[in-house]
Order: sequence, then C-alpha cells, then structure tokens
Amino acid sequence: MSTAEAAATRPALAADPLWWRSAVVYQIYPRSFADSNGDGIGDIGGIRSRLGHLKALGVDAIWINPWYPSPMKDAGYDVSDYRDIEPVFGTMSDAEALIAEAHGSGLKVILDIVPNHTSDQHRWFQAALVAGPGSPERARFIFREGRGTNGDEPPNDWMSEFGGPAWTRVTEADGRPGQWYLRLFAPEQPDVNWDHPDIHAEFEQTLRFWFDRGVDGFRIDVAHGLVKDPGMADANGLTFPLPADTPDDIDHPHWDRPGVHDIFREWRRIADSYDPPRVFCGEIWVGRTHRLTAYLRPDELHTAFNFEFLMSPFLAASMRETIQTTLASHAQIGAPATWVLGNHDICRPVSRYARPQELVGPTDRNLSHYIDLPADFDAGLRRARAAALLTLALPGGAYIYQGEEFGLPEVEDIPLEAMQDPVVAGTNFEDLGRDGCRVPLPWTTDGSSLGFSPDGAAPPWLPQPSAWGSVSAEAQESDPASTLNLYRAALALRHQQTALGDGDLTWVDAGPNALAFTREPGFACWVNFGPDPLPLPADAAVLLASEPDVDGVLPADTAAWLRLP
Ligand code: NOJ
Ligand code: CA
Repeated sequence: MSTAEAAATRPALAADPLWWRSAVVYQIYPRSFADSNGDGIGDIGGIRSRLGHLKALGVDAIWINPWYPSPMKDAGYDVSDYRDIEPVFGTMSDAEALIAEAHGSGLKVILDIVPNHTSDQHRWFQAALVAGPGSPERARFIFREGRGTNGDEPPNDWMSEFGGPAWTRVTEADGRPGQWYLRLFAPEQPDVNWDHPDIHAEFEQTLRFWFDRGVDGFRIDVAHGLVKDPGMADANGLTFPLPADTPDDIDHPHWDRPGVHDIFREWRRIADSYDPPRVFCGEIWVGRTHRLTAYLRPDELHTAFNFEFLMSPFLAASMRETIQTTLASHAQIGAPATWVLGNHDICRPVSRYARPQELVGPTDRNLSHYIDLPADFDAGLRRARAAALLTLALPGGAYIYQGEEFGLPEVEDIPLEAMQDPVVAGTNFEDLGRDGCRVPLPWTTDGSSLGFSPDGAAPPWLPQPSAWGSVSAEAQESDPASTLNLYRAALALRHQQTALGDGDLTWVDAGPNALAFTREPGFACWVNFGPDPLPLPADAAVLLASEPDVDGVLPADTAAWLRLP
C-alpha cells in the first residue's frame, strides 16, 4: 500500500458509532452454513468454526437468521421461545461464546426478530387454544368467528403468503369446529395482535434480553405486516405491493398500515437507550420507495433492505433507475441506502442473471419464475460478479448472502420429496419454493458433505450438487481469479478507500448500456451491461475488475473500480 493509500485508510468501522451507515453485513443462514456435530444441520458451533472465513472475507457484521427454539415449520420463522436457543443449533452459552468471538474479530452481530407471528407451539398460543373464545389468552392473537353457515367459512378473504386462505379453524374443547385464527404465513405461524399491551411488553423484553447480551441489532421480519385493519375488511383482490396504477392514499387491510410506525418508534427508543445504540434493519416489501423510506425517519428504523435493487434485472436502464430513486428518496430523510442481491427467500443472483434479462418480470423472486427460461450460467456468474462490485461501490451499506462469495447458483434440481419449504406443499407443488438457495455450503473439494459436516456424518438436510466441490471455499482459495478472491479484494479495498461506504455519487455518461459514477476522493465504478467492449477513461488506473486482465477496455457484463488522477 502506498503512503497515500495508508493515509486514506478508514478507522476500523467497528469503533464507529455510525458503523451501520457503511457496513457490509454477511447473512448467515445457520441451518446451511456449517455443521459442527454431524447431524446434517448447521449450528452455532459451525458458525464459530468458520469465523476465520468471515474475517478473511472482510465483512463488518453478521446477521444470523432465527436461531430460537422452533418446531421448524418455516425454518425457524416459527418461534416458540424468543429468549432461548434452538437445541439443534446449540445452547445459550454457545450463542454467548459466538457473540464474544465475533466481537473479538471486529464483527458486529445482528439477530433476526419475528414479531408478526409466533409458532403455534408458543406458550401463549397453546394457552389461547385451551382458554377458548372470548378469553384474554385468545386476545393476544387474532381469533374471529367464521362467516357462512355454522361459521365454516374464513372470517374474510385474506390470503396466506404461502398459498390458500390466511385463516385456520380450531377445534374447541367440546370437540366442535370453532373459531378461526389469522396466519398470514403457514398454519403453524399464528399472527399476534399488536393492539394488545402484552405483545408490546413481550417484544420489548426480547429486544432487551439480546441487547443485554451484547447483540448489536436486529433484522425485523415482515416489519410492514404487524398492524391489521381492526375492521378486518376484505382485501377484495387488492394485491400487495399495490399495483402501479393504485392511488397512493389507499391502505391495504394488512400490509404497511400507518400504525406500524408507532411500534418502531417504541423500538427505536429502546435501541437508543443502549450504549452504543443498537440498530435495526427492516424486511419491508412495500414496492413504493417513499413508503419504504417512511420507516427510516430519524426516530424509526436505521435501515431497510433495498428489495427494488435486488429485483432489478441486470439491465443498465433498470439498475440506473432503481439506484437513482433509492438515493434520492433516502437522501430526503437522511438515511443510508442498502444494496442487496439475494437472501434465503430469493433465487440466487447467478441463476436469475443467467436468464434473458428482458424476460424477467418485476416480481419474479422464486426459482419457479426462472426455471423454464433458457439459462447461460457463465453469463449469470459474470453478471453476478459485476453486480457485486457495483453493490459494494454504491453509497451506503451492503448485504452478502452466504454463498454469494463463492458465486453459488440456485440448486434447480432438488427432488420434490426432498424439499422442505412449506411454500411447496402450501401451493400444492406449484411453487418450487426457496430450498434452492438454502442448500448447505461447500467448504472443501472432497468429503461426504464437502466440508459442511464432519466426514461420515448424516447427509446434509438438503442435498448438495456433487459438482459443488469445484466451487468450494477450498477450491477457490488459491485461484486468484475466483469469486471468493474477488469479494476479498473488493472488501479490502472498500476498507481502504475513504470514497466508499456512506456518502454520495456523481453519475458519468457512459452510454445507454453502461453505468458509471465517481465518488470523492478519486474513485470511479464502471459497469458494462452491453455486449460490446467499453473504453474506460484513459487517465484511470484499474484498482479491481470483476473479470481478469481488464485494462483500458471493459468487456461485456463486467465491472471495474478505478482510481482517478
Ligand atoms: C420473511 C422471511 O425471510 C421468510 O423466510 C419467512 O418465511 C417469512 N418472513 C415469514 O416469517
Ligand atoms: Ca449440527
């Protein structure tokens, strides 16, 4: 590193109270990250054993998907106790050790809180079933009488995200069919009633429980879903996010209702009472950017996932539009943007970008939307690598979903009988669900589970493609051109360049098939989305490129980071 570069090196993000404005957060899906005890399911011991990978990668924080006791009807998003650890994943002392070790490595730790619904095995829901209609126990959930003869039709027309009606009927103590409860996801995930003070108290206690154990923040599951229309009005087919031609002042009966903002103001006060203040990132699918940034007002959440960017096809015009809208709307309220390419719910970027991008629809998320389109996986990987450099150069924070640093594709051929996602059964096998992006990671070139579990252990909970040995961490380690080494180089540079992270950008006109912008001091990012090579500015030096040997000209589907004079 030159003296000038050394002078430009940022202080460690970990010590900065505004770390969250620039952080690169690595998402750990614990079932699929690493298995330490050989039962074929990832666990906390596995995460601890691979912290070295994350340190070498150069991320600033980890976000761990739910690790609480759960019957696993929705891979842990059905929580039966918010203040304990699922035995399959380990113990509370394992969790405490992981938090301490992550902090020791300079990594912040973000957990996942699930406030829209519990598991049907949560003590409160079990009590509600026993206590019967009209009881205080049922008031913590959303129980209603059915419509129609004998109440045998659901109370309204709301639909589950996992297919079919959003209501399940219970059998009362006398053995007769009784009330219905709302569950916007699986039947085993009853929605809680946020009009009830017990719910506020329970979640406040949960936030404090983990904050007291040093956790730095929470990702908030279905943050836009907590408040429901008290009148339980029919949705009458109103889809969500609202169709583009619906006026702005229409409220959906159960998504993004104004009342959710009061809940997050309460939560912000709790987070701010800690030193250093704890932070939130909302999982908020609202379609319209100004409805998203409403959650990011200074007294609400710190950040939210930028799903508009994630959903954009790899096309210059679409990417430019979503980046511009994102930056303009976030600037209005002073919140940093986030940039995200994938997660445990979305078909992996390599496989999305492998498809003809003009054919990708604006809401295509799952494998089912892509599987029938022709695929060029070499192009998909090139584009995913270019998108990674774009993502890490844009102003704000970024997320990396485990396996993106290996360039893993979606697994598209999991046998139906091996699929675990409740979406698959909930839609009668019409939707192929999300298992394809949740396949256990390959760490080594050989071995019965490619290093995911100790050798000779139970098979991984989802089958791994045998070819994944060649994309494993071990296989990529010594290849300077590997995706793993591209991510490492990008994250190392990101820590050295004061221009990167929070801040702003200036667009440069590079033609209709490219995106180019500069960031001060002295940095530029160019991305070529088109088929033709693109000349780079003559006075720029290439710091890093998503393909080898880029010099002077940027090939198709390639990004470069440049140092300007
Ligand atoms: C969003 C989570 O990311 C997803 O995995 C889960 O199924 C739903 N919320 C319900 O909790
Ligand atoms: Ca295990």
